[in-house]
Amino acid sequence: MSQHVLVTGGAGYIGSHTVLELLQAGFEVTVLDNLDNSCEESLIRVQKLTDKEVTFHKIDLLDKDAVNKLFDENNFDSVIHFAGLKAVGESVDIPLRYYHNNITGTIYLLEVMKAHNCFNIVFSSSATVYGDPATVPITEAFPLSATNPYGRTKLFIEEMMRDLCISDERWTCVLLRYFNPIGAHESGWIGEDPNGIPNNLMPYIMQVAIGQREALNVFGNDYDTKDGTGVRDYIHVVDLALGHLAALNTLPNIEGCKPYNLGTGNGYSVLEVLEAARKASGKDIPHNIVERRPGDVAECFADPSLAQTELNWQAERGIEAMCDDSWRWQSQNPLGYKTDD
Ligand code: UD1
Repeated sequence: MSQHVLVTGGAGYIGSHTVLELLQAGFEVTVLDNLDNSCEESLIRVQKLTDKEVTFHKIDLLDKDAVNKLFDENNFDSVIHFAGLKAVGESVDIPLRYYHNNITGTIYLLEVMKAHNCFNIVFSSSATVYGDPATVPITEAFPLSATNPYGRTKLFIEEMMRDLCISDERWTCVLLRYFNPIGAHESGWIGEDPNGIPNNLMPYIMQVAIGQREALNVFGNDYDTKDGTGVRDYIHVVDLALGHLAALNTLPNIEGCKPYNLGTGNGYSVLEVLEAARKASGKDIPHNIVERRPGDVAECFADPSLAQTELNWQAERGIEAMCDDSWRWQSQNPLGYKTDD
């Protein structure tokens, strides 16, 4: 019998790409999502692409009774936990909402899992837990810190899961620390659909390329990097999704709580990404150099070797594929999942 996976936040950007890979690999998938920053259309498209079914429930993790009922009615082997608020700037303005939503939501989920004898969870963490790293590349052994409430929710959830695994050896918690996910499924049918003005680099660049915004603001060109602009480890969202599959497949061999970096190990500057996006889209992408964005670090990229050895996973797609696929999604869906009628 196939394994049944509950995916929280499965209608979102990384969630929907992961659901697609899970279905293709033969997993039975149930999605729980409150659709706060996502829409069901992503899952409708995933079903069309795979010709397989996903069971969807519009549930908020803070509605513990509803989560409990879902577990009463199903027999989940494991959970992939994406659901959470993720905007750094917003988290500074409304920290309590971030703590309540991300941390309380996770506590409820873990309590319900325990009550139903489900002890396997893969958690959507972030390279943000390394704060301002002293050196690069970053290994999992680096000291952890956070520079904003969003990052602190990721860090606290990691710590909570570590304590949980120490308290009860039935738990396995895999913490996947993502570097910078970009790109889209190569079909161009699913992709990133940010609400309002994008905070992150690639969606902003794409909206400039398609003519919805005038110019990219490059946040600083006086960092100590190859061209003065910030350097990040951009990873194709499909590679990231496959990292979750690798984590699930390895789960039976993992003991307790284990973190893994999911990155490529390569760093690209803002100007390099801009150039790659220009080539992929064939469009001029005007930019202005502006002040540094508070809280940004100069350089951040992974040492991904632990995931390679222990999860047997490695990112395969390069910056060209990331930009080609982002552009295919953007040009085929200029309004994201929304339609103009
Ligand atoms: C950001 C978050 C990080 C979160 C991740 C999720 C901050 C400080 N960090 O990472 O906690 O886990 O998103 O995806 O927000 N840039 C521009 N102009 C723009 C946008 C970005 O120059 O309009 C630059 C940034 O200065 C940075 C790079 O592009 O050097 C990448 O930025 P972004 O996509 O926002 O990701 P991070 O800041 O690395």
